[in-house]
Amino acid sequence: MLRIKDINHVVYRHADLDAVERFLSDFGMVTAHKNAERLYMRGTGPLPYIYVAEYSAQPGFSTLAFAVEERDDLAFAQTLPGASPIEPIDGPGGGERVVLTDPAGLRVELIHGVEAVEPLPMREALTLNSAQDKQRFGAVQRPVKEPAQVMRLGHIAIGVTDMQDSLSWYREMLGLIPSDLVVESDDQEPPVAAFLRLNRGPDWTDHHTVALFQAPRDKVHHASFEVQDFDAQCLGNAWMAEHNWTPFWGIGRHLLGSQIFDYWLDPSGNIIEHFTDGDLFNHESPMGHTAACDASLYQWGPSMSVEDFLGEVSEYSLNKG
Ligand SMILES: [Fe+2]
Repeated sequence: MLRIKDINHVVYRHADLDAVERFLSDFGMVTAHKNAERLYMRGTGPLPYIYVAEYSAQPGFSTLAFAVEERDDLAFAQTLPGASPIEPIDGPGGGERVVLTDPAGLRVELIHGVEAVEPLPMREALTLNSAQDKQRFGAVQRPVKEPAQVMRLGHIAIGVTDMQDSLSWYREMLGLIPSDLVVESDDQEPPVAAFLRLNRGPDWTDHHTVALFQAPRDKVHHASFEVQDFDAQCLGNAWMAEHNWTPFWGIGRHLLGSQIFDYWLDPSGNIIEHFTDGDLFNHESPMGHTAACDASLYQWGPSMSVEDFLGEVSEYSLNKG
């Protein structure tokens, strides 16, 4: 069985790398490397990049990449149906990869051996005084208004036309585990949405790393990046608004995964999310079933329907090779 260590990075195609660099900088990433063809953006974590923008006259989503535990996992991966042989990665930190294609035509890379970099300084999480539990004494709260310092890529949400195929593929090929399934009736099979986490055994991992939604077209809906805390998210949201980027939804709190969220449209029309305070699950966490309705999407926030949330996606196609 393939051992996935974590989600690593995403690759999008953009027609204007300067515009997307300005957008991602205001969103909270840091430029790591740039040339005429590619822009590599990093977070504060130890990965040399978490978002790659490739120049293309045809914008769209390109690649979802996961890091595997050992090189042996790449050796195993190249024996999977449709897999490429192990090949070197041409990018900062080097490494090797095996390329797979999911049932929706999405390019999925499994990578290993990319050299880590020194993490960047990040504002400490704020110490909060709740009504009943005071933790901060004699100290003031002064978070700075700035971009919301992105630490890492957390998850990706994908619209799929064949939920059964896609769900089986992510479970069987990548070993992902459903944390929550959204269904329209109790005995419905397959679900209309599936929130899948990494198989990390007893270790705590994000409630979902891949979310699949039944959709009329195969398309990536959004990629989501983790920020330090609620104040970082609110101040980052204000920063984005003041720099005239286009909001999509937020600030609010999701139901499944519980993340506090805000969503933005990038210069090519892709949806990108900040999140903080998500749930952590492990091998003892029970799988949940939730009825499909707007309340399955969020607990609080600006009004949004599932239809509008999933419908507001630009017409970009997946790279079907
Ligand atoms: Fe999300």
